[in-house]
Amino acid sequence: MCGIVGYIGNREAYSIVIKGLQRLEYRGYDSAGIMLSGSESLNICKTKGKVEDLKRKAQNTIDINGQLGLGHTRWATHGEPSDSNSHPHVSSSGDLVIIHNGIIENYAAIKQALQERGYHFHSDTDTEVLVNLIEEIKSSQKVKLGKAVQLALNEVVGAYAIAVYDQNNPEEIVVAKLGSPLAIGIGEQEYFLASDASPFIEYTSNAVYLEDGEIAILRRGKEIKMRKIVDDSITYPNIFELKLSLEEIEKGGYDYFMLKEIYEQPRAINDTYRGRLLADQGVIKMAGIDEHLEKFLNANRIVIVACGTSWHAGLVAEYIFENTARIPVEVEYASEFRYRNPVIGTNDIIIAISQSGETADTLAAIKLAKEKGAFVFGVCNVVGSSIARETHAGAYTHAGPEIGVASTKAFTTQITVLSLLAIKLAQENGALSKTELHEYLAAIEAIPQKIENVLAQNSEIESIAFEYKDASNCLYLGRGYNFPVALEGALKLKEISYIHAEGYPAAEMKHGPIALIDEQMPVIVIATKKGHYEKVVSNIQEIKSRKGKIIAVVTEGDEEVKSLADHCIEIPDTQEFLTPLLTTIPLQLLSYHIALMRGCDVDQPRNLAKSVTVE
Ligand code: AGP
Repeated sequence: MCGIVGYIGNREAYSIVIKGLQRLEYRGYDSAGIMLSGSESLNICKTKGKVEDLKRKAQNTIDINGQLGLGHTRWATHGEPSDSNSHPHVSSSGDLVIIHNGIIENYAAIKQALQERGYHFHSDTDTEVLVNLIEEIKSSQKVKLGKAVQLALNEVVGAYAIAVYDQNNPEEIVVAKLGSPLAIGIGEQEYFLASDASPFIEYTSNAVYLEDGEIAILRRGKEIKMRKIVDDSITYPNIFELKLSLEEIEKGGYDYFMLKEIYEQPRAINDTYRGRLLADQGVIKMAGIDEHLEKFLNANRIVIVACGTSWHAGLVAEYIFENTARIPVEVEYASEFRYRNPVIGTNDIIIAISQSGETADTLAAIKLAKEKGAFVFGVCNVVGSSIARETHAGAYTHAGPEIGVASTKAFTTQITVLSLLAIKLAQENGALSKTELHEYLAAIEAIPQKIENVLAQNSEIESIAFEYKDASNCLYLGRGYNFPVALEGALKLKEISYIHAEGYPAAEMKHGPIALIDEQMPVIVIATKKGHYEKVVSNIQEIKSRKGKIIAVVTEGDEEVKSLADHCIEIPDTQEFLTPLLTTIPLQLLSYHIALMRGCDVDQPRNLAKSVTVE
């Protein structure tokens, strides 16, 4: 996700754009840039780093006057965070300027075609390709900017919210949207554009949210003109009055970033597999793997190093890799791995998992493994982070910034990436039949909608939370793929509600924890049909006979557990290896609601930080 801001009118644009970018930094913050259209020249400043860095650089390097401006704060998807990869991007002629939030999936083919026509590129981004495609169409077909943008967008595949400016026509900005949000603020003789309304809510409460597939021309002092990208047919703005506060808008209308990020998971998972999972062709494309395929196929074993929630994702991956690709996997706490003088060789592959890409223990584990000659593959959410740069190769989760300290969408997108990796290796080493392959890929594609179905039970889960908000202790049980989910559910609860919670393999109950069971002990049991169901039902009966309170996560239509448990939360059926992506959702919501009811700071729990960059 990135944040875009623009202004055209009769005020000075600089402060509007800069303040707007600061309000959008929750959408991405690895680099930023601004363009101001002054009386004579086009003034552009961009830099790796935060908006604060951009402010310092801009005030010392460019003329910040001008009543038209575009700004961008980046969440890198193509191309590392750097000055050159920052937006705005300029076309080869220097006339056109673009800012973009989204992903152009077919940018490589377009780039090659443009290079064959003599275009040169100064960045690794898909966005620079788009602005040159627009330029090529504008000059070759001798059309205006709006028409050139419309024609170009009919050639691209992907998601975008863009603003394009032609310095030869300083009276207009062209904007367009597909898949990424774009809000337009309508003032007196002025227009604002942004990824959400927070940059302009103090100037106007009249807003238009472009629909997917719409393009609009914002002309100083003129009515907004809107059309459909696909056929240039006219559409009309649906202007409405904003009621949200600034803070609410940054959270997308949700009360907390954590809740917003829980609800973003369908989109985040889709963004993570999009462009990599070609289910109809039975193909998984992952550059980081393709280039090192032999290493993976000839590896002795895979050792996963991570911390916290990422370590739980690693535990899920252990089951997935061993069950699908038949590759031995070990999972280690990075903090233990780095100090126990592990036996690591050149035939070992280390997979380091980290949302922030900055966790000190994980980074140290990577360096140790590299010293011992192992190949290290990273799964990170922050492009260009320390871990992403330290590993030999990797695959990014495209979850977008995760602001809430309690990790949610990072966990499910990590499992998504690791599932793709395991299935690809299983396909390559013959462990998976073609039928299984197609079934698995189709099952992954069906996950976002299935998560939506689970999210729809939020109010029921909130009611359950109310019954247990005053518990002092909680037990989470699961088997197989859902044992790590039990650990993750316990971590979620303890880190934001401060209730002591423990996760266990359900079968471990008899080896001690069952002594804890009484009517004061809520027990969350993951009892999906796939995954040792009968054994888990026995565990539920053992708990019930000791008056434990049972909250069960079950497969839709399960009547047996419903007759035993005090509460049941139903999830859709799916392939067993994908059940963690669904069973974790109710546990995220349960911990969120309990923490809220206990008056805890859900986004910034006590004693914690989003990224543990120290030992
Ligand atoms: C999870 O909710 C916690 N915030 C924490 O355990 C986190 O997962 C851990 O610190 C690892 O962080 P990383 O994924 O950024 O490396």
